[in-house]
Amino acid sequence: MSKRILIVGNWKMHLNASQASLLLHRLHERIKIHRNIEVVLAPSMLVLQPLSTQVDRRKFRLAAQNAYYKDEGAFTGEVSFSMLQDLVHYVIIGHSERRLHFHEDLEVVRDKVASAVRNSITPLLCVGETGQERHAGETKQVLHDQITTALSNLTADEIEEVVIAYEPVWAISTFEGEIAKPDDVESGLKFIRKQIAELYGNKAAKAVRLLYGGSVDDQIVRSYLELEDCDGALVGGASLNYHKFAGIVDSAYRLVQAQGEDDAGQ
Ligand code: PGA
Repeated sequence: MSKRILIVGNWKMHLNASQASLLLHRLHERIKIHRNIEVVLAPSMLVLQPLSTQVDRRKFRLAAQNAYYKDEGAFTGEVSFSMLQDLVHYVIIGHSERRLHFHEDLEVVRDKVASAVRNSITPLLCVGETGQERHAGETKQVLHDQITTALSNLTADEIEEVVIAYEPVWAISTFEGEIAKPDDVESGLKFIRKQIAELYGNKAAKAVRLLYGGSVDDQIVRSYLELEDCDGALVGGASLNYHKFAGIVDSAYRLVQAQGEDDAGQ
């Protein structure tokens, strides 16, 4: 059966307001509305507001790359989930760069996930092992700990709304940038779905959307999107290049179309 695919572009700390506006303009020109494909852009906090007035909401949804879990207060430099409510559909939470550079631990990630849900924003939770953990055979333990803690304050119904991105740190272009084999990705995604099933039941496990992220570009995205457990991709570096990002969306479109034709032929 053809699936609905979610493609997220994480622009990280790139692009000032005019550069971001230009990239959005180029993406508007190249990306068509597809019923079965949802495209989400995650620009810097600074440009979310101006982009929200420029964006064609039938084509793109917006995501923040981070937010703070308290709703308001004396937290200099922070922006809360409640402040983002009318601006974004999604917030990326627990990205490995935040875990590594900003020392976000399992409990902070858990509180952010709960705050997102409380404020009606869909959490895009990132999980994944480092290269060192992988070589030590700790991948499953790391994923287990990250998932159980991050989701521990949610009900099974709330979990169905969460998106989880499997992003092995060793595959992210700005870390080691190793190209993950689709088999490795599928086993990571399967393990994550199994964890959700064990914790919250089969219905929640089926409903949760799982993405893959790590050096995804227009050439290799299809090999991941074809995986049974993969509902989309979280794209970093390639999302800053409009040819590549539009190519990724196009690949997703062609896959959905091919699957639709298969369904019709059965
Ligand atoms: P990358 O980044 O696509 O540049 O590897 C992915 C991410 O950090 O989310």
